[in-house]
Amino acid sequence: MTYDTIILGAGAAGMMCAAHCGGRVLVIDHAKAPGEKIRISGGGRCNFTNMYAGPGNFLSQNPHFCKSALARHTQWDFVDLVNRHNITWHEKTLGQLFCDGSSKQIISMLLAEMERAGAELWVQASVKDLRKTESGFALSVERDGKRLPLICTNLVLATGGKSIPKMGATGLAYDIAQQFGLQVTETRAALVPFTFTDGRFKALSGVSVPARLTNERISFDEAMLFTHRGLSGPSVLQLSSYWREGEVIRVNLIPDLPLLDLLRDQRQAGGRKALTTELARHLPARLVDYLRHHIPLQGNLADQCDAALSELETALSDWKLTPSGTEGYRTAEVTLGGIDTDGLSSKTMEARDVPGLYAIGEAVDVTGWLGGYNFQWAWSSGHAAGVAI
Ligand code: FDA
Repeated sequence: MTYDTIILGAGAAGMMCAAHCGGRVLVIDHAKAPGEKIRISGGGRCNFTNMYAGPGNFLSQNPHFCKSALARHTQWDFVDLVNRHNITWHEKTLGQLFCDGSSKQIISMLLAEMERAGAELWVQASVKDLRKTESGFALSVERDGKRLPLICTNLVLATGGKSIPKMGATGLAYDIAQQFGLQVTETRAALVPFTFTDGRFKALSGVSVPARLTNERISFDEAMLFTHRGLSGPSVLQLSSYWREGEVIRVNLIPDLPLLDLLRDQRQAGGRKALTTELARHLPARLVDYLRHHIPLQGNLADQCDAALSELETALSDWKLTPSGTEGYRTAEVTLGGIDTDGLSSKTMEARDVPGLYAIGEAVDVTGWLGGYNFQWAWSSGHAAGVAI
């Protein structure tokens, strides 16, 4: 069978690309259903984009690479598409847009767009071998127990990254890219919880606090969640993308609280109150109880001199921790790194030295922050390749 374009991967980027390609298009996926990550995303409501998405929200060895695609299919273009399909949505926080209903609406929308474009979809199909021909690519695909030879002019790599292998994530895009001489940058789990092997936060499991997490490169102000195995929550996932093994992270548990002034005022007003009681007005009681074993919190407010209160403020605003590691690809939302952008055109996503080969979505070395940015990259890069084809 002959196609103009074969897209490997019916995820966010692959389906978006198929909806914009002209000619005879086939999308191939080894999963049972298309868009599985869309289905589970955003707690089943899909955080499909972010109102403030811009190049600064993406990590890549070349931070300029994402600019062109993001500018040519913006978050507002995607919102228009969602509106045209009568999918209602809301902003949850920080510009994050979610479906009011179910993330399945986004999958249905993409399938409808693919159908409108005349694209064919094969699920439970896997690529067995692939080679370059003079005018394109030849591959064989196993489907329903049969091996089918296929020929195409354009081949689009849209099989995503390595995160959540249980859901069918594989490194196929990286392998094919390398087969055709493209470089792949170091890949690692990102948007992923931190682990502490000594189980120090077990007693705090389930406690959530607003926190500012910082390392030498960046800072995020969002909720932090203590877990059985370590730390999670939005601020932790965000910082994990910028973290390297062995690095110290700094946690500010009182990011917007003038604690020293408050404690001094309270000392003057009613110094007989226990310091822990006063702190529990600003922090979860279980956290205060935990901290009691690690920093001096004995006595009443009246017992504390200015220097002691100042030390306490520093301890709470600059808590230094060294995670043992991360939960890895098992729970990571995305893969950092991927197909090196040096080998790709930022306008079309086509490989510079392999005409007809394209790479889009998470498989490429462009990784977004938490908050709808990764889907926006999938839509924008899928669109860029689709319109170019
Ligand atoms: P994606 O992973 O979507 O699709 C790749 C497709 O290729 C899959 O269908 C897979 O089955 C297929 N495939 C893989 N290997 C193959 C092989 N060897 N042969 C054939 N097919 C193969 N982002 C965001 O912006 N907002 C959000 O709310 C969330 N939420 C979220 C929750 C969870 C739990 C995860 C794990 C991730 C998110 N993300 C997210 C990230 C987002 O899901 C991700 O960045 C995009 O889905 C990437 O889109 P792609 O199309 O590139 O890959």
